[in-house]
Amino acid sequence: MSEINWDLLHAEAKAIMKKAYAPYSKFPVGVAALVSDGRIVTGCNVENASYGLGLCAECGLVSNLTATGGGRLIAAVCVDSQGNFLSPCGRCRQLLFEHGGNELLFMTPDGPTPMSTMLPWAFGPDNLTS
Ligand code: THU
Repeated sequence: MSEINWDLLHAEAKAIMKKAYAPYSKFPVGVAALVSDGRIVTGCNVENASYGLGLCAECGLVSNLTATGGGRLIAAVCVDSQGNFLSPCGRCRQLLFEHGGNELLFMTPDGPTPMSTMLPWAFGPDNLTS
């Protein structure tokens, strides 16, 4: 298991945030995560003229995770345009839970917080096998 370099994740999240396509909300978001094999995956939000179809940054991250070899998400940092830690929306907590489970650590203003706290008693893959 790789050591979690939170500063690097923060830097990668801020870098990918600059690639966001957010002409409607003008609220660019970037997210970066450490994967179980040590690589880092990132994502930014991509909006759409049909406003409700916009993709959150976490959607891009999960797509990149799968497209570059999969694995489990270990730790993640999401930021706004100022580089402040950003809370993932409810849908994105569910997306992240699928690939990181309860142990995935998410950076918050209170420090690294497990997904079990961010999304308590989550519905996930295990529920479909019981
Ligand atoms: N957004 C994200 O990318 N991730 C979140 O977890 C919260 C919200 C984006 C969606 C939209 O493009 C913009 O932030 C404003 O809501």
